[in-house]
Amino acid sequence: MSSQTEAQAHTPITKWLFLVGGVILTAGLLFGYDQGVISGALVGIEKSFSVSTFMVEIITSWVTLGALVGALVAGILSDKVGRKKAVLLAAVLFTFGALVEAFAPGAWVLVAGRLIVGFGVGVASVAAPLYAAEMAPTRLRGRFVSGYQFGITFGIFLAYLIDELLSSGDRWRLMLGISAVPAVLLIVLILPSSDTPRWFLTKGRRADAESALERIRPDDTAQAMAELEASVEGETEQAGWAEVFSQTWRRPLTIGIGLAVFQQVTGINAIIYYANKIFAAAGFITPQGQTAATTWAIGAVNVLATLIAVAFVDKLGRKPLLLAGLVGMSVSLTVVGVCFWFINRSGTTTTGGPSDAGLITLVALVVYIASFAFSLGPVVWTVINEIFPRNIRGRGVSIATAANWGSAWLVSQFFLSLVDTIGESGTFMLFAALSVVAFIWILKVLPETRGRSLEDIEQMWLDEPGQAAASPAS
Ligand code: BGC
Repeated sequence: MSSQTEAQAHTPITKWLFLVGGVILTAGLLFGYDQGVISGALVGIEKSFSVSTFMVEIITSWVTLGALVGALVAGILSDKVGRKKAVLLAAVLFTFGALVEAFAPGAWVLVAGRLIVGFGVGVASVAAPLYAAEMAPTRLRGRFVSGYQFGITFGIFLAYLIDELLSSGDRWRLMLGISAVPAVLLIVLILPSSDTPRWFLTKGRRADAESALERIRPDDTAQAMAELEASVEGETEQAGWAEVFSQTWRRPLTIGIGLAVFQQVTGINAIIYYANKIFAAAGFITPQGQTAATTWAIGAVNVLATLIAVAFVDKLGRKPLLLAGLVGMSVSLTVVGVCFWFINRSGTTTTGGPSDAGLITLVALVVYIASFAFSLGPVVWTVINEIFPRNIRGRGVSIATAANWGSAWLVSQFFLSLVDTIGESGTFMLFAALSVVAFIWILKVLPETRGRSLEDIEQMWLDEPGQAAASPAS
């Protein structure tokens, strides 16, 4: 392993790695664009189809439901047909779904388009990071995975910008349809790329594995091939579901699912999706004022703060970033909750712009987004992709990712109804309370994984007290 690290320290970045980088950024961008775009499109959609609150929630959140199914299928799919074809399928679905949305004659066809796009998002959210992790040399792997989160946040920002540009007039069809452009770009990028050397080897296609390695590791192909063969050897028996849920791996599975769920139930997508409505309630009365607040206070801050995590995740570690972020999130959510209590009590506001409480809400939301973006946003994905042992990695990542989408769906489906029932103030207080629970849970259960090789992490679970009795075979 150490010789591998030494050899890779000299690996040049070949043009193939740029291609892989392009794939991962574009896949993240599509994920983010489809998450973010709906916030600005809702006004126009509501006008065109005059739909109920419940239908608005369905149109918003069923992308997530499709993604949940897509993520569950993606682990097995990318083992069977390969990472490249799984990404290609996701890109084709994105393109088709975007066109169905853009030309939808009624609300239900629009929902069908959202489901198709969602399925693509879900497949890509498992297959693309897996593809990048297996294509990247060890020393660049962290950066490649964070590159995915950077793509997501940039996609959300782009969606907000386009929403803002197209906000005059009801051009929601164009807002949704435009995502066909990066989707086609993803097809163009992935087609000439090869599948990963690791996948070829697990399929017994040694020659293909070697020529794929030649492209990404031209300097030390032979050595890389020998290492890969040694590491794939123990893996020819891909473990089944029983192994994934076995006592031996209970801890990484619980941690993976727990982190995935906490990333969502602390409110991020309620804010990403419904930002305009939140700013409207906080007293930003013109649609232009709302979209500007959303684009810059949420979208741009999200992109910039992600760069903090990219810079520090390998220096400071995963746990300190997560804990610091959760402190910022709990405090800012509490402030938003209190502000909404004042706003609703004083019956603001249909004229004269945002009140003081509205402006404080804006500032608190900026703090919330920044805190999420340097912590739970990228770090949860990093940890999920490194804690599972090799023989269950695909399925483990797939389950944790599906849990993430499942909770994202719950939040976005019921956010507006929750606001109707317990008010904005109660809803944000609830997110704040869940952030405190997440803080305590992470403090107690998460071991630090910074600086450990994947093999170390695997061994760490096996060395835990009680583990030997639970699983003598492993
Ligand atoms: C989350 C998404 C969220 C995005 C916001 C990602 O890490 O998984 O659900 O929309 O961050 O930047």
